[in-house]
Amino acid sequence: MEEVKPYSYFAMIYSHLMRSVDYSFWAKYIKEIHDTLGDKNDIALELAAGNCSLANHLTHQFKKLYVSDISKEMLMTSTNKNLEKVCCDMSLLPFKNKFDFIYSAFDSVNYLNNETRLSEYFANISNNLSENGLLLFDVSLKNNSLKHVKSLNRKGIYNGIKYIQKSVFDEKTKIHSNFIKIKLKDGKVVEEVHQQKIYDFYYYFEVLESNNLFAIECFDSFTFNDATEDSERVQFIVKRK
Ligand SMILES: C[S@@+](CC[C@H](N)C(=O)[O-])C[C@H]1O[C@@H](n2cnc3c(N)ncnc32)[C@H](O)[C@@H]1O
Repeated sequence: MEEVKPYSYFAMIYSHLMRSVDYSFWAKYIKEIHDTLGDKNDIALELAAGNCSLANHLTHQFKKLYVSDISKEMLMTSTNKNLEKVCCDMSLLPFKNKFDFIYSAFDSVNYLNNETRLSEYFANISNNLSENGLLLFDVSLKNNSLKHVKSLNRKGIYNGIKYIQKSVFDEKTKIHSNFIKIKLKDGKVVEEVHQQKIYDFYYYFEVLESNNLFAIECFDSFTFNDATEDSERVQFIVKRK
């Protein structure tokens, strides 16, 4: 029997921790933007798609949907056969072709935890976005970290695996760290650390500009109101210059 790697257990626990996210609601928001600005023949790519919970609701929104994530284990938890899955780093895209609609959701961009990687992400997108293509991404801002840091300190047991999550937001470095410890069935304890960088709201506009992109809209997430630096999560809609 093939040995189950700790990564697969982490993937299972992360999926469990994200179970309260309303992906159908999230997908409706993305669909509404795409219905307005995109085309039903668009070839789309989701970056940092995780276990494809969001993509499951968007499969029929596009002519074809590719999903990608750096974690093979996260992608493998999805059984959706309509999705083309590619394991890759979102700041080092392996694609030769262009996409009409590229999107990422749920703070995934915050995982690029230094300015160089963030800029590489946009440079790669700039190269892989078709001439009139759209990029949608959301980011978490400081108020989101401050609001949720306490509730992200939690523990539980799922499918026989005990887990503890510790969450710390360092206001000086603007790094939000999540330490996840799991106890495997054989008693071994394994830990993963996820670090997200909470960039200044205005910094995103600078880094887009330096990679030949610009924001056509920036909304307070899940609304069509303009975002501000006080928003918790903001939704960017971006085009090539
Ligand atoms: C908070 S989860 C969000 C997953 C998914 N977007 C969702 O809404 O459920 C962040 C995801 O980013 C992925 N990730 C982190 N760094 C990445 C990178 N450099 N390239 C691609 N994926 C990355 C992780 O593996 C994880 O699946």
